[in-house]
Amino acid sequence: MNIFSKYVPLIDRELKKIPFDCDPASLYEPCRYILKNGGKRIRPLLTLLGAGICGRDEAVRKAVPAALAVELIHNFTLVHDDIMDEADSRRGKPSVHSKWGIPTAILVGDLLHTEAFQQLNLYGSDTTVSREQFSALYKTLLDSIKTVCEGQALDMEFEGSNDVHTGLYLKMIEGKTSALLSGSLSMGGIVGAGSDEQIDYLRQVGKQMGLAFQIQDDLLDVVADPEKFGKVQGGDIREGKKTYLLLLAFELSNEIQKKELHRLSQQNYLTDTDVERVIDIYEQTGTIRKTEEKVSAYYQNVLDLMNSFEDSTFKTDLVSLLNFLKNRDY
Ligand code: IPE
Ligand code: IPE
Ligand code: MG
Ligand code: MG
Ligand code: MG
Repeated sequence: MNIFSKYVPLIDRELKKIPFDCDPASLYEPCRYILKNGGKRIRPLLTLLGAGICGRDEAVRKAVPAALAVELIHNFTLVHDDIMDEADSRRGKPSVHSKWGIPTAILVGDLLHTEAFQQLNLYGSDTTVSREQFSALYKTLLDSIKTVCEGQALDMEFEGSNDVHTGLYLKMIEGKTSALLSGSLSMGGIVGAGSDEQIDYLRQVGKQMGLAFQIQDDLLDVVADPEKFGKVQGGDIREGKKTYLLLLAFELSNEIQKKELHRLSQQNYLTDTDVERVIDIYEQTGTIRKTEEKVSAYYQNVLDLMNSFEDSTFKTDLVSLLNFLKNRDY
């Protein structure tokens, strides 16, 4: 059985139980739309695996509300991110704001955020969860969201800046992407009553995984089949994003290529030919290959960190998930 068919049906079944079949339909229909639109469910999977690594089967069952909470938060960030990035498609379908408008998309994000905390609140009446665990779960999720917001703010700030380099970029993605992956794993560890050391390792795994995952997302923006990836090809280039590839290409370019990249990345509107030209420069400078190597290096860091975990089926499942992520094309 593959890692997804082992856990995702449970996650999807539990997500469906959240009462999103209410009125007004103008709010709840787009909520159902984004939740059933085929996300990979990586973050809730991480929560269940973090719980299993620290507390075995019983902890996995107990971690379901935390797993739903992180998936709801993730979808909230996606709905708002698509407004910020002016992205028309998500998971191969129109993004929420392009279908229902920005005001609705703002509200949908707010509601998903609220529902995440409703899920977390269920631990308040679970007598097998201590006060300390309850409060650590809250703190972890709140800190993760705050850090995601800081990362997203930097991401937007970078659009208008010419002083960004790969070092700053890594700080930004540690916020916008790693924080929730770290939070997802460590919340699992908290539910599984893991030691401080175990939880710290889970956090570090999430951080390295997030760095790999986001650099790969930037790469897929350029190389993936847009049908499969579900986002417009070169969306980041068109939006003037300071992706890992653009920053690395500047470092690897000769003066002529640099000038051209500069001109194209400053332009307000890019034609398909302009986007192709940027991608040509990525290829000519070895940016694509070097980015792939960087992604592999971060995934290797994850595997190295995982040596600290005792062997278990959950550890094996986490390795399977990593192998899937390494080879993902969507
Ligand atoms: C997309 O995350 C946002 C990023 C952090 C790059 P995913 O690729 O996990 O999104 P879904 O939920 O599977 O669509
Ligand atoms: C995603 O970054 C980060 C968050 C949603 C917090 P991107 O803007 O690169 O994600 P996609 O490419 O739209 O999924
Ligand atoms: Mg974004
Ligand atoms: Mg985006
Ligand atoms: Mg992206």
